[in-house]
Amino acid sequence: MNETASKTMKAVAIDRFGGIETLKTKDLPIPAVAADEVLVRVEAAGVGVWDPYEREGGFAKQFNITPVFPLILGSDGAGTVESVGANAKRFKKGDRVYGIAFLNPKGGFYSQYVVVKESSLSRIPGKLTMPQAAAMAVDAITALVGLDKTLGLKRDESILILGASGGVGHLAVQLAKRMGARVLAVASGTDGVTYVKELGADKVVDGYKEDVVAAAKQFAPNGLDAVLFTVGGDVAEKALSALKEGGRAAYPNGVRPVPQARAGIKIEHFDGEYAPPPFEKLNKLIEAGPFDVHVARTFSLDQVADAQRMLDEHYLGKLALITK
Ligand SMILES: NC(=O)c1ccc[n+]([C@@H]2O[C@H](COP(=O)([O-])OP(=O)(O)OC[C@H]3O[C@@H](n4cnc5c(N)ncnc54)[C@H](OP(=O)(O)O)[C@@H]3O)[C@@H](O)[C@H]2O)c1
Repeated sequence: MNETASKTMKAVAIDRFGGIETLKTKDLPIPAVAADEVLVRVEAAGVGVWDPYEREGGFAKQFNITPVFPLILGSDGAGTVESVGANAKRFKKGDRVYGIAFLNPKGGFYSQYVVVKESSLSRIPGKLTMPQAAAMAVDAITALVGLDKTLGLKRDESILILGASGGVGHLAVQLAKRMGARVLAVASGTDGVTYVKELGADKVVDGYKEDVVAAAKQFAPNGLDAVLFTVGGDVAEKALSALKEGGRAAYPNGVRPVPQARAGIKIEHFDGEYAPPPFEKLNKLIEAGPFDVHVARTFSLDQVADAQRMLDEHYLGKLALITK
């Protein structure tokens, strides 16, 4: 029996789907660890823009999942390994790890402990802190899948990244540069533009104030090779109009409104890859040079309602909970 069996943990869980008032801090049993699983002592959890959708029952309905309450939210996070199942050979107690627990039946990362499959975890790359590693897991994997697998981005190609100062966007800018592409970043606000310039984008414009089509024409006079967008609507349609004939566009599922199909370009939607996530490819790219994960603000578990409220405000990068 491991030393945490029968102990309890503090976690944010819901007893029914609903509004922000359903988020409750509770003492819950630490889940048992099966042979292919790992128990992680969580230090930080990402607060995803999709968390309110999960809290409201959106994913349960979408994927036809019968919920088991109390349900612990939190799709990604980081911490140290506490114990491992008999067949989990890659990690040992004390390893610093980050990972993904999207719709995990044993609960998410809004908690002091989480039990996930060994394949859902990775060592933390580079010099990232726990809150940085926690906040990036889903968004960095999503950015990588979008750029690499869905768009097939190649060296020297031009790409417009829309929402470049947001969660997926600021990571996609750095990964696309590392993949050798020329990046036109469309960020939010003066602070967003300043920050994304520091990340090494070739050109940065403010998508709320500047003419995105004119910027794209100047950046790629014969049309852009690719567009990755993390928000929909008017500015996304404008970005799509700047693609060359035969150009490719992609957006992660969840982006609304979904774009209008148009002749001569390929628009694909995708999900991050979670079973298992391509962590080693991601870590290698991250470790190829300085890499930043911007955690705009951290909250304690007891402040989770404030954290989810802040998702509706303007901020750069991601939000995180400090769970220990
Ligand atoms: N399917 C999957 O596997 C998956 C995984 C991760 C994420 N997603 C989805 O992907 C989307 C993006 O996620 P995220 O974490 O990156 O969200 P996010 O942090 O909210 O990023 C969106 C960014 O776009 C910015 N923005 C909005 N309008 C803009 C404009 N006109 N010009 C420039 N920037 C603009 C926002 O800034 P302001 O807030 O200042 O407006 C925000 O920074 C969400 O819909 C999410 O649900 C899907």
